[in-house]
Amino acid sequence: MHTRIPRRVLLLGAALQVANAVALPEPTAVPAKIEARAPRTTPAAIYFEGDRSFVYDKRNVLSDIVSGVDSVAKSWGSVLGTDLPSYFTEGIPNWFQDFPTGSDVMKSLGIGDDDLAAKPTEVLNIPPYANWTDQGWNVRFHGNVYKVPDISQEKIDDLANVFLIDVKLEDLPADQQANARNLTKSIFIVQQSDQNVSFHLEPAPMQGSSGEPGGGNAITPDGGDQNITFPYETTAQGDFDAFVPIKNVSGSGLLAGNETNNVQRLNVYTNGTLTGNATAFLVPPTGITFISDIDDILRVTKIYNPKEGLLNSFARNFTPWMNMPGIYANWSRTMPNNTHFHYLTTTPEQATRNYMDFIYKMYPGGSFDTRPLNFSDVPNTLSIRNYLLTKVFETFPQRKFVLVADTSNSDVMKDYPQLAHDHPDQVQCILLRNTSATDSEDWFPYNTKGFEGLNSNIYMFFHVPDDLTGLDIANGQCVNTTIPQNVTFGTQAELLGIHGAGGKLAASSTLGFGVALLAAIFLAL
Ligand SMILES: *[C@@H]1O[C@H](CO)[C@@H](O)[C@H](O)[C@H]1NC(C)=O
Ligand SMILES: *[C@@H]1O[C@H](CO)[C@@H](O)[C@H](O)[C@H]1NC(C)=O
Ligand SMILES: *[C@@H]1O[C@H](CO)[C@@H](O)[C@H](O)[C@H]1NC(C)=O
Ligand SMILES: *[C@@H]1O[C@H](CO)[C@@H](O)[C@H](O)[C@H]1NC(C)=O
Ligand SMILES: *[C@@H]1O[C@H](CO)[C@@H](O)[C@H](O)[C@H]1NC(C)=O
Ligand SMILES: *[C@@H]1O[C@H](CO)[C@@H](O)[C@H](O)[C@H]1NC(C)=O
Ligand SMILES: *[C@@H]1O[C@H](CO)[C@@H](O)[C@H](O)[C@H]1NC(C)=O
Ligand SMILES: *[C@@H]1O[C@H](CO)[C@@H](O)[C@H](O)[C@H]1NC(C)=O
Ligand SMILES: *[C@@H]1O[C@H](CO)[C@@H](O)[C@H](O)[C@H]1NC(C)=O
Ligand SMILES: *[C@@H]1O[C@H](CO)[C@@H](O)[C@H](O)[C@H]1NC(C)=O
Ligand SMILES: *[C@@H]1O[C@H](CO)[C@@H](O)[C@H](O)[C@H]1NC(C)=O
Ligand SMILES: *[C@@H]1O[C@H](CO)[C@@H](O)[C@H](O)[C@H]1NC(C)=O
Repeated sequence: MHTRIPRRVLLLGAALQVANAVALPEPTAVPAKIEARAPRTTPAAIYFEGDRSFVYDKRNVLSDIVSGVDSVAKSWGSVLGTDLPSYFTEGIPNWFQDFPTGSDVMKSLGIGDDDLAAKPTEVLNIPPYANWTDQGWNVRFHGNVYKVPDISQEKIDDLANVFLIDVKLEDLPADQQANARNLTKSIFIVQQSDQNVSFHLEPAPMQGSSGEPGGGNAITPDGGDQNITFPYETTAQGDFDAFVPIKNVSGSGLLAGNETNNVQRLNVYTNGTLTGNATAFLVPPTGITFISDIDDILRVTKIYNPKEGLLNSFARNFTPWMNMPGIYANWSRTMPNNTHFHYLTTTPEQATRNYMDFIYKMYPGGSFDTRPLNFSDVPNTLSIRNYLLTKVFETFPQRKFVLVADTSNSDVMKDYPQLAHDHPDQVQCILLRNTSATDSEDWFPYNTKGFEGLNSNIYMFFHVPDDLTGLDIANGQCVNTTIPQNVTFGTQAELLGIHGAGGKLAASSTLGFGVALLAAIFLAL
């Protein structure tokens, strides 16, 4: 199977042991040497408004346009999305980029090695998936080893204020202040390189008792108790990520991948800390895997409106998007036993606990992927989402995938259809919420070009969760015929009167004169 990852990045991946450890017996041959960027002490946010197709400091774009042809050409990139902020084009919110790591945190906060030595080691253990191979079950352990430094509340508040736009921490309600402090603390951690990690595995009690509803029809195996030592030390950024074969031991053991249709759940406890618990999902070779993005599809984020996006990420409690949890709960109950849920978001590792906490309260249990720190300095070299998606596809070559997200992520708009072109037998459905058709704050253009040439029965642009009700996904019904599609392949922009795939936004008739003028100029060109 090919990936489009550039060679430099492949080397990087090898160096950092993110590639399959089984296939890379000598990972230490290439030293992991990646410098994180200096921490920002001023807001990193490029200010712009989500309901405009141009950056904030080009507010007068309309007058530019009417005053001369040159300006039209200059603003053209904004209109077409080619000079939109990188956080929009890369699909990673700007405020979630360039988090400081390791020694940068220590330097910027004046923390010494001795201060940190006394702190306990903590481990982020990201819920893994496992595939069935000739050697038995192969579990992809991944996560991060770090310490939380002592930072005064006053300093935390200063740091939290850096992330907020037009509002001060002290002006937020108490619960939101607590959330903002929590996430800020999670960002200012010191990752621990060259650490050994080991785990204890045991059967996970029936779902429900661990607070995770659903999860397909996952079952508890009758064995699998064992200790596992991760075969490599952590990378320079404290990350670990590799497939490790586990043994068929204790009780009557684990069910082989070819003797069960059910996903089996094992609890994974990290040795030496109570912070590294996770559930591992042993996924049979065939069946359907739902791969779901989280922001603006499972929860309300409004990535396209920075001020709101920041509040929704840093301060407010995470809220589900409409009745999406009901749709997932239904899928979890009614889909065949071999169904597996995987949550794949490009939010950085530091925010993972908040995302997991939310998902496991609201959505079916499943494995997880977030953006590893390894990639913190190569946002333009590689599509992280594509890298993570490709890994799941390679791990389960016989499974079928239902890919779920929304149109406000340009990497989704590229990567999801590309996977369907590259693996036509593996992509069952692509379900995309048309965010700009349903949220008048999102007027960013998005691009449907990637869908050209795909069978239109495999993808649907929808408006609200109810549009997904009653689809027979297991049998390949991906389209609710009552939702108008009318997909054209190219740039779509509600703002410009191009009512993209999935229909028109009723409110767009209320656009002001300036916007109508811009639209008229656009259409005349
Ligand atoms: C299950 O898979 C194992 C390992 O690949 C193989 O040895 C065994 O024969 C298979 N069993 C069945 C029932 O296919
Ligand atoms: C990690 O484990 C390996 C193998 O047991 C050992 O050689 C190495 O010294 C350990 N590293 C640390 C930092 O303890
Ligand atoms: C795993 O290691 C712990 C000590 O860290 C030990 O008490 C336990 O017996 C081991 N379990 C197995 C199944 O080897
Ligand atoms: C584990 O061993 C049991 C009994 O020995 C066997 O039935 C089962 O197929 C084995 N499972 C795996 C994963 O090899
Ligand atoms: C767990 O860690 C302790 C030291 O923190 C070590 O003595 C013990 O051997 C480890 N257990 C396993 C199973 O790796
Ligand atoms: C992790 O599991 C251990 C053992 O069940 C438990 O004592 C601990 O509270 C758990 N940690 C968290 C953060 O839930
Ligand atoms: C699905 O899994 C459940 C739980 O193990 C089992 O009772 C049921 O028979 C399975 N259904 C099918 C169709 O295999
Ligand atoms: C922040 O909240 C998450 C989710 O509730 C929790 O798991 C985590 O431990 C908290 N982090 C800190 C640094 O307090
Ligand atoms: C299991 O996953 C690994 C890692 O992605 C992959 O290399 C291997 O081919 C997979 N094995 C099978 C039998 O699908
Ligand atoms: C299609 O969408 C409509 C509107 O949201 C909904 O009422 C209906 O249940 C959906 N499902 C089917 C199969 O029509
Ligand atoms: C749940 O699924 C069943 C069977 O497909 C369907 O009849 C029902 O309308 C669904 N309900 C919701 C809320 O999606
Ligand atoms: C789809 O587009 C065609 C041509 O632009 C238009 O005539 C038709 O009314 C549209 N259908 C819907 C349901 O919007």
